[in-house]
Amino acid sequence: MLMEILRSIVIVIHLVGFATLFGSWLVEVANRRTHVTRLMHWGLAIAGLAGLALAAPWGVDGDLNYAKIGVKLVVLLVIGALLGILSARQKRGAQTPPALFWLVGILTLANATIAVIW
Ligand code: HEM
Repeated sequence: MLMEILRSIVIVIHLVGFATLFGSWLVEVANRRTHVTRLMHWGLAIAGLAGLALAAPWGVDGDLNYAKIGVKLVVLLVIGALLGILSARQKRGAQTPPALFWLVGILTLANATIAVIW
């Protein structure tokens, strides 16, 4: 019982991370910018840490879908690499390819879709 409640709390934290990452990305889109912001890094870190905690089998009855979890982890690492590349370029004042910025949002949405339908 306690473990189930704890797991639910970690899932909510996981969703807060997702909301932070995707929401801060949407703010850029709404303002017609393609900048990476600090909140995106925070959102990714929160979703990633909570996701890793959820990848361990506690507070659940059935088996975890490790293929799905593995794919989500890879997608998360790609998003992290994109954020790293983009923010390094921004700091140098170099061009940031809009395609890479769009990929951040698309891959974030892809991970949420995988989480829900797989
Ligand atoms: C940007 C990255 C991510 C997004 C947008 C995301 C999104 C979501 C969403 C929307 C859910 C709730 C849907 C559901 O419960 O079926 C979820 C659940 C979950 N996520 Fe993620 N996720 C991300 C990264 C990760 C990573 C990196 C891991 C693990 C390494 C992970 C592991 C899990 C697990 C295990 C659950 C299921 C919780 C449960 O039912 O016990 N997620 N994720």
